[in-house]
Amino acid sequence: MSDDTRAAFFDGTAEHYDDDTFHASVAEALVSPLPAGPELVLDVATGTGFAAYAALRLKPARVLAVDVSPAMVARAEAKAAAQDPSGVITWRVGPAVPMPAPDGSADVVLCASSLHFLGAVAFADWRRVLKPGGRLAFSIVSGTRFKPGGPFAEFVPGDLSFPTDETEAAALAHGFIDVSARTFTVDGGDRIRSVFLVHATAP
Ligand SMILES: C[S@@+](CC[C@H](N)C(=O)[O-])C[C@H]1O[C@@H](n2cnc3c(N)ncnc32)[C@H](O)[C@@H]1O
Repeated sequence: MSDDTRAAFFDGTAEHYDDDTFHASVAEALVSPLPAGPELVLDVATGTGFAAYAALRLKPARVLAVDVSPAMVARAEAKAAAQDPSGVITWRVGPAVPMPAPDGSADVVLCASSLHFLGAVAFADWRRVLKPGGRLAFSIVSGTRFKPGGPFAEFVPGDLSFPTDETEAAALAHGFIDVSARTFTVDGGDRIRSVFLVHATAP
């Protein structure tokens, strides 16, 4: 599938994306255990920027946020005057695998609510861009709950096995060390939403 086709699909979801607060909660939960003071944070498939903005609490020198959808990035950037007045975050439209960052340059890689669109190929790229000891934080949908169908299924690569428990979620970060996974659930009353949060360190 071309990047343009992919971008057009996600452009169509941008207008109402922020209406759903679950993604913001996931991004906050991914960032909160990370140590403060990173030089460079990468937000992979940033969407409207929830994880990039959450990362500002770490007081990073720089954040690079990348997404294939121009409309998503436009929505993210529109929040910068209020949420990032000193311009720590750089926004970039384009594919997020590979990330446009040099080898061994990043202290933190974030990927919130997006790995299921990127596929297993993302892990090798995250190993590439992270410094030794750099931190990886990603969320992943549960294979028990996530059953992509219709046109949506075309955007989900087939090379990723969706975990059904925390052990399987942690195993996705193969080649990383100090891997931990936990279940993150939000009970919205009429709908219970749940993903796995995985934290790991680059060797
Ligand atoms: C469900 S949203 C998650 C956005 C954001 N990370 C968050 O936490 O809300 C998925 C995002 O992945 C982006 N995306 C999908 N495939 C991509 C790719 N190959 N490269 C860059 N971005 C991609 C979409 O444009 C969309 O913004």
